Formats: sequence, structure tokens, C-alpha cells
Amino acid sequence: MALITTKEMFAKAINSDYAIGAFNVNNMEIIQGIVEAAQIEQAPLILQVSAGARKYAKPVYLIKLVEAAIADTGVDVALHLDHGEDFDICKKCVDDGFTSVMIDGSKHPFEENIRLTKEVVDYAHDHGVVVEAELGKLAGVEDNIKVDARSATFTDPDEAAEFVERTGVDSLAIAIGTSHGAYKFKGEPYLDFERLKKIHELIPDTPLVLHGASSVLKEFVDRCNQYGGEIPGAQGVPEEMIREAVKYGICKVNIDTDLRLAMTAEIRRVLAENPGEFDPRKYLGPGRDAITRMVQHKIRDMLNASGTK
Ligand code: G3H
Ligand code: 13P
Ligand code: ZN
Repeated sequence: MALITTKEMFAKAINSDYAIGAFNVNNMEIIQGIVEAAQIEQAPLILQVSAGARKYAKPVYLIKLVEAAIADTGVDVALHLDHGEDFDICKKCVDDGFTSVMIDGSKHPFEENIRLTKEVVDYAHDHGVVVEAELGKLAGVEDNIKVDARSATFTDPDEAAEFVERTGVDSLAIAIGTSHGAYKFKGEPYLDFERLKKIHELIPDTPLVLHGASSVLKEFVDRCNQYGGEIPGAQGVPEEMIREAVKYGICKVNIDTDLRLAMTAEIRRVLAENPGEFDPRKYLGPGRDAITRMVQHKIRDMLNASGTK
């Protein structure tokens, strides 16, 4: 039982029909809920920490909590920095013992993204840490991207091949139509599978990463709304589309919004049904259990990763 890198898990996943769930963590209950699901399902696991999570919980708490979860359950975990925006935050996480970091240079021009990514790759590899980079821009919440605008934002397959070659990055996040958050599509969900296939053909040995991959499960949105929430018109990536993407090189599937919705829906329900309750354990506990059930469902039914450890 240990903190491990994603190298071995990706090597096994890349030419198979399953992917590894990468779940965002912000506190003890979220970490416990996810790790318990991975333990039950005997599945490989990536826990990821955003800059916002570091600010909220303080890095040392998150690292110690993840270490505690490993000691408690025996589950191997890859601990990953999500969307590192510059060299400094990546270096801090490498120095803190993360086994994987993401340098997100997607907002920069191509050459600057390459320079920045290479700088992080050199430092991380010297310390035995793997690196994820991003090329292309995820769609904005409000964007209903028109066909002719796609090439400007979605990942260009030829650039992806050049990027991987010149940076030596270990995995690549690509943009094919997903976006972060609970409002991913205004009309019919659309992912550019032809583009994904082309990228995978050109760089078949590079594990690809799908950000913004929450499905925004109706069950949890409805429960939030039923118990006082206001999340109208939320829409995620249908789970069958994730399963399809996994066939073409997607090895890592990023999920945060679905965790937030599952936990919030359950907490709302408990508090609404028990207005006299004010012991945080009485609602955080059920919130944690809801996360475990949801993550088990993801691992088993969507990522096809149950029992692959
Ligand atoms: O990519 C975004 C993740 O959902 C992290 O969100 O920056 O609010 O922690 P956050
Ligand atoms: P969701 O908002 O779809 O959960 O995406 C999370 C993510 O991509 C984290 O990097
Ligand atoms: Zn993301």
C-alpha cells in the first residue's frame, strides 16, 4: 500500500476497455468516500487536488488525509495536482510528495505551452513524478461551439503529436467538447469522436485524459432540486459517451461535479427531513456514503474498471 504514480495503471489501461477515475478531493469525507469505493471495487485510483482545494483545506491536511486513507484501507493511490497553472505550484507538489502533476498551459500559445510543460517535465521526471499537460481549450459553460469554431478550441491532432514529442509529457488532456461544471451542453450533447480517434491514432502510446467528464446524474440533480436546491437545466456527458471515449485512448476520466452533486443532494435530503438535526456527523456521514455509492457506480458501470487493480 503506497502512493504510486500513474505509469503502471495507464500502461495497463491504454490498450484495454477501461479507464481510471480521477476524483477531486477537498476534505476528509470526500477522500474517505472515494477510497472506500476503490477498496470495495479493487480498482486503481487517482485522487486529485486543485489549487482551490489546496487553498480550502491546506496542502498538508490533504496529503496527510490521503496517507491516512492508504494506511487504513491498503488502497494504492496516485496523488495528482489538477490544473497546475505555473511551474511553482507543480514544483511545490512534487516536493510535497505528489506522484503526478498537471501543468495546464492550455491558455498559452503553443510554443509557450511547450516551453512551460517541458520545464515541469524536466523537474518532475528528475524526482520520479509523472506529468499531465493540456492542449486545446475546454468549452466554456456558455459556449455552444459552432462547427467552424471547433478547430480553434478543440485539440489539433497534429499539434498533439508534436507537443508530446517535444515535451516528453506522460499523458495529455485533450479538448473534444467537454467542459467543467454542471452545465456542459445547451442542446444535444456532442463530443468530437473523430478528432479523438485521430489523436489516438497519431499518439497511440500516450494516455489521453478527459476533463469535464461528469455525467451530472439526474438522480442527484433532482434530489438537490427536490430539497431546496436550484440547479435548473444542468446537463453532463452521457455515460455511454464516456464509455465510447474510453475505446479511443482515454485512460483518465476526471470527475468532480458528480461528487459535489452526490454529496450535496444527500446532505440536503437529510437536513430537510430532519430539521432538528445539527450534529455534522449526521449529515456528513450520509454525504460520504452517497459518494461511495456514486464512485462505485462510476468505477463499475462507466469506467469498467472494477477488479482491474
Ligand atoms: O477542474 C476543476 C475542478 O472541478 C476543480 O474545481 O478549482 O473549484 O477546486 P475547483
Ligand atoms: P467535472 O466538472 O465534469 O467534474 O470535471 C472535473 C475536472 O475536469 C477536474 O479537472
Ligand atoms: Zn479539469
